[in-house]
Amino acid sequence: MFISDNYDVNAQGNLTIGGVDTTELAAEYGTPLYVMDEDLIRNTLRRFHESFKKYYDGKGEVHFASKAFCCLEMCRLVASEGDGLDAVSIGELYTAVKAGFPMEKVGFHGNNKTDEELRFAIEHGVGHIIVDNLSELSRLEKIAKDMGVKARIMFRLKPGIDAHTHKAVMTGQIDSKFGFAIETGEAFDAVKEALSCENIELSGLHCHIGSQIFDIEPFEEAARVMLRFIADVKNKLGFEVKELNLGGGFGIKYLEEHDPVPFEVYMERVSAVVSKECEKLGIIKPFIFIEPGRSIVASAGITLYEAGSRKEIPNTRTYIIVDGSMADNPRYILYESEYEAVVANKASQPRDERVTIAGRCCESGDLIGENMPLQHAEAGDIIAVLATGAYNYSMSSNYNRLQKPAVVFVKDGKSRVVVKRESLDDIISNDV
Ligand code: LLP
Repeated sequence: MFISDNYDVNAQGNLTIGGVDTTELAAEYGTPLYVMDEDLIRNTLRRFHESFKKYYDGKGEVHFASKAFCCLEMCRLVASEGDGLDAVSIGELYTAVKAGFPMEKVGFHGNNKTDEELRFAIEHGVGHIIVDNLSELSRLEKIAKDMGVKARIMFRLKPGIDAHTHKAVMTGQIDSKFGFAIETGEAFDAVKEALSCENIELSGLHCHIGSQIFDIEPFEEAARVMLRFIADVKNKLGFEVKELNLGGGFGIKYLEEHDPVPFEVYMERVSAVVSKECEKLGIIKPFIFIEPGRSIVASAGITLYEAGSRKEIPNTRTYIIVDGSMADNPRYILYESEYEAVVANKASQPRDERVTIAGRCCESGDLIGENMPLQHAEAGDIIAVLATGAYNYSMSSNYNRLQKPAVVFVKDGKSRVVVKRESLDDIISNDV
């Protein structure tokens, strides 16, 4: 009935998530509110593990891309499932440290890491620093030397793949600000350089071709390109790379018409490509890391709003204006990302109107979506926007000095706050 099985309608006709009535959540915690289904997150992580076991002899590790959703409790959850993290800033690293995360299972990304960040990563025993460019490599070599350690790194490479996704989230092609290009020889030279550095241990190579990708072929092709590069390095430099990080990017279902391939199928097909290519190229099968973000948390989350007003503009459109905005969900204004919405307190009724859900920011483009099927909504109704678990809370802002909403986890019919709603004093807390 809905885009994900964890959403349902109860006997009162209200939308539920993970078995919990969303109208009760809105009444208890207020709106806007992010709600995440803990069991779905855990089950999804387990499905990734299982498929590593099933298709790749368990020689792999899942690193949740924390940019999709990061807070202390999420880091604790990932740690409790035995998985790793992809972190992209000192803020994400700090959150992991404070959550007691095993930092040797963290990969530290970023295309312009500061010296402070590099030192912090080394100090806290981050497993891999994923180096993006040569200036970073030389700064890292110097910092590692000063600190008397060898920094374990991977290189971020551009495999030159067009991943058929929105251009703002494509990253694997040559014209990208991330990483070293393989086809220009830049990546090969970087490997040579790293091998000559005393305080650098090159342990692996990384690529990430983009986000919200539905096709499997670009992932297979990226794996092939990376393995061919590993073979080239082995043949020319006599150095065998033993770890390969294939990034994230698995597409999820935001709309009824989306039909993503279950990620077990990606895992099966990409594992098969890796095994076959390694045999063909005469290289050892690398330990594989993957970094899914969206596919782990998106469907697990919803956002609850209260409708404030309804504006019917004859022959034009109907606006339903909610108490949230682009400050809690900037994805429509950035990417025209589409979502399904439901009137949570009328969830068993048909969605027979087409509306624009607008936010409360002083900005005409502040929309959650346009032309969205919805039940007849009026002031006071609770509007649920589905599959907002990824890149919503993590991309939220205080635009118009709006307070960021709370995040609530639901599990076994119960709910608990994992991130408090910001107070008015939080809004001015750094002002002097
Ligand atoms: N690894 C690296 C190096 C990445 O840059 C990303 C995402 C991921 C993994 C996780 O990708 P995922 O599995 O979540 O697709 N803000 C955009 C998405 C930006 C993705 C950036 N990098 C959005 O809201 O759609």
